[in-house]
Amino acid sequence: MQRAMLLAALLLAAPALSAPALAEEQPVELKPGPGVDVITANCGGCHSLDFVRMNSPFLTAEGWKAEVAKMRGAFAAPIDDASAAQIVAYLGTAYAAPK
Ligand code: HEC
Repeated sequence: MQRAMLLAALLLAAPALSAPALAEEQPVELKPGPGVDVITANCGGCHSLDFVRMNSPFLTAEGWKAEVAKMRGAFAAPIDDASAAQIVAYLGTAYAAPK
């Protein structure tokens, strides 16, 4: 009986214990370089920064420029012009696919 109670308590506690761990995404380390702090501050709010790594085989420097414009336009990412320019430059150097 006591065992069963303990098991029930553990089962009840389990979601509470695991939920924050699931909700919190693993921190993604982007390559170091000028602008990495800007992209880290601006691009990880809505989705994982892993999106950058996952798309690097496909997006050229031009593609990244369009991608950043899409984030600001279609998805209303609050990123000012100066930061966007730094992000585009960073992505074009660190994560762009060859043309
Ligand atoms: C306001 C929220 C928001 C911010 C801030 C944001 N994104 Fe996104 N991003 C989205 C949404 C919404 C999607 C598409 C839905 C999904 O797949 O989760 C997306 C998808 C992507 C994708 C996958 C390809 C695609 O077009 O669907 C990439 C790459 C990406 N974002 C890069 C960036 C970069 C780089 C930045 C910083 C300049 C950024 N995001 C900032 C909301 C945002």
